[in-house]
Amino acid sequence: MDMVRVGFIGCGGIANWHLQHFEKMDDAKVVAVCDLVEERANKASERMDARPYLRYEDMLEKEELDAVYVCVEPSAHNGMEFMIIEKGCHLFVQKPMTLDMDYAIRVKEELAAKGLLSCVGFQCRYMETWPRLKAWLNMQDVAFFTGYRIGGMPGVWWWRQKEHSGGQIIEQTIHNYDLCRLVFGEPVSVEGMGRSGIVQGVENYDVDDCSAVTMRFESGVIGTMFTGCFTGFGGENSYQAFCRDAKAEFGFGSFKVRERNMTIEAKAANDYGQEIDDTFMDAIRTGDGSDILSPYEDACKTLKMTLAAQASIDAGGKLIELDSWQG
Ligand SMILES: NC(=O)c1ccc[n+]([C@@H]2O[C@H](COP(=O)([O-])OP(=O)(O)OC[C@H]3O[C@@H](n4cnc5c(N)ncnc54)[C@H](O)[C@@H]3O)[C@@H](O)[C@H]2O)c1
Repeated sequence: MDMVRVGFIGCGGIANWHLQHFEKMDDAKVVAVCDLVEERANKASERMDARPYLRYEDMLEKEELDAVYVCVEPSAHNGMEFMIIEKGCHLFVQKPMTLDMDYAIRVKEELAAKGLLSCVGFQCRYMETWPRLKAWLNMQDVAFFTGYRIGGMPGVWWWRQKEHSGGQIIEQTIHNYDLCRLVFGEPVSVEGMGRSGIVQGVENYDVDDCSAVTMRFESGVIGTMFTGCFTGFGGENSYQAFCRDAKAEFGFGSFKVRERNMTIEAKAANDYGQEIDDTFMDAIRTGDGSDILSPYEDACKTLKMTLAAQASIDAGGKLIELDSWQG
């Protein structure tokens, strides 16, 4: 395949972030774009010299596409993935892929049945610091960790409404949960508490202001992720892992690890955003998806963990064993 032909469903904030990566590619082209908001579809169409659509059904019927990017808000996954798969297109979906675990499992199964490639927008996995940090952690006896994803509230209208975003853990801290899986392995249980009353005067707001979720991993590691969207003072996006004879502090794209007589610090300098899209396009060209760090099937495990964390909070702190939790 000389040129990968790509379509976009959703032309909002994150779609435009991806479009800048396609502007730098000469063997993939965005040929069609679709948004319910005509102005957004037209703007993306002009930007990429692509045909604009208002309905994805029309775009998928009329266009010959190799891959489709789904960049809609979390509550807007209304079946588009099934039509994309039916058309035989490879699938990129932004996180969280849906708010409904059954829907995600059906997408996963249909992708597998058709042998299609997939990628979910966990671009932070492509930061070049993770393999080194992971290798170091594997040599340690990690006891527990704390993690923080604390900041203000994103401006998009749907973020503050649980029925549309799922809440902060599911929409945002899902990146941090996913990275917990990347470095600590598979989780077995989650148990969380949330609170409200700090955020004041925001219309239509019903997500938790903050939460603390404790998780246990197959390796025995335990940890707590703190999440909050209440502060205009100064946020935090970091982890600390405490080991028998060492300590690691790390964030998105950097780490500092300390042993008795040694400190190692590293900072990622790679363009991980460009890399997630380049990797997906390369996989489509070669038919080899082994370099995709977040295929849909793997991302389902992260989605399950975050949906379960929110369910635990909603149930007042119930311990949820992930193996038996159905969503
Ligand atoms: N990976 C990341 O770091 C990252 C960052 C930001 C957002 N996101 C995720 O990307 C998704 C979109 O977020 P955003 O900030 O771009 O939101 P946005 O509101 O800016 O854009 C979403 C767009 O989808 C369109 N849309 C909704 N339903 C549609 C449909 N049926 N057909 C066509 N268009 C439709 C909307 O009109 C809107 O323009 C969310 O799931 C969000 O969590 C990921």
